[in-house]
Amino acid sequence: MQQDFSFYFPTRVRFGAGVLNQLPGELRDLGAGRAFLLSDAGLVKVGLVERIEALVRGAGVEVRTFSDIATNPTAATVDRALEAARAFRPEAVVAVGGGSPTDVGKVVAFLLTNPGSLAEYQWEGRKIGIAPVPLIAVSTTSGTGSEVTRTAVILDRNTKKGIVSDHLFPRTALVDPALTLSLPPKLTAATGLDVLSHALEAYVGKGIHPLTETWALRAVELVMTALPKAYADGRDLGARVDMALASSMAGVAMDQSGLGIIHSMASPLSGLFGVHHGLANAVLLAAGMRFNLPAVPERHRLLARAMGVDVAGLGPAESSEAIIRRIDDLVSRLGIDTNLAQFGIKEADLEPMGREAAAMFLIRNNPRPAGGEECAAVFRSLWRRVP
Ligand SMILES: [Fe+2]
Repeated sequence: MQQDFSFYFPTRVRFGAGVLNQLPGELRDLGAGRAFLLSDAGLVKVGLVERIEALVRGAGVEVRTFSDIATNPTAATVDRALEAARAFRPEAVVAVGGGSPTDVGKVVAFLLTNPGSLAEYQWEGRKIGIAPVPLIAVSTTSGTGSEVTRTAVILDRNTKKGIVSDHLFPRTALVDPALTLSLPPKLTAATGLDVLSHALEAYVGKGIHPLTETWALRAVELVMTALPKAYADGRDLGARVDMALASSMAGVAMDQSGLGIIHSMASPLSGLFGVHHGLANAVLLAAGMRFNLPAVPERHRLLARAMGVDVAGLGPAESSEAIIRRIDDLVSRLGIDTNLAQFGIKEADLEPMGREAAAMFLIRNNPRPAGGEECAAVFRSLWRRVP
């Protein structure tokens, strides 16, 4: 655990069922006359985008919407969104959705004010020097936590590439659990297990410190109880509130303290095989923790307590196994199939995927060194020939 640390978090979080209605007030505070709205086709279909457009117009703010954003957004998506935004000259950007619209929103907001192209800024490239157009993030899933992070991830030629900058923190995050009530069970499971992977990776990682430790463990505790309830009954508002809270807490913890092998390995799954980000992490969760837990025996006790696992009197190997069994049990109760072959992955793909995972910058925070061979071995443990 790092006792010397820094913590910077400038985003105003407005949390609670119904906080979406505070969007007009937020735009007024910014003095914005024109708002550029980013979302996706699914949210257009359920009528949420139309509802938000009406809210914004009701505040006397002109709005233009770009909703052509798919899961794992690409550089081409950013280019199209940016072109539409430039023509409109917005004074605020409003991103509505999960990680995909939020990350595109972050990138569009900074490219509106900064020179150069997206590629120049990715993977520890050029620094963002000029404050972006203010971004309001409305989160509609309890998953990525992108509404509270300084990170944006965009797919570039099948590789997920991040940009990290204090300028990417949204001005405001509207976290309204009521917006997640209609999330279908499959998406509830995948996004919810993404939250768990953020909390677990942050907690066992090298960058954990006393502030993020508290949030990561509390997020684990919330997910373990609330996620099965939200999966079984999507209309359970109490469970949705707890999941939204867990998502924000785990989001801050992972953004401030880092991720590790699970997210590094999820990257080629999404980049090469189009697997949804949350699902990729859900599939890798138990195997990644099986790799990591032996390296951090001093963290087993608090982690087990947060997960509701009794490890009293157990040695490190046994407590690792007890924690992993609990994760495995949750993942299978949520209907997640962990066989990588289901995504069309062939045995010969596992080694190159391992090399790609090991090249991710996230893996530097992993508590146990993981090169290409180690990552490929973890992939192999999840691959079974489909009969
Ligand atoms: Fe994630």
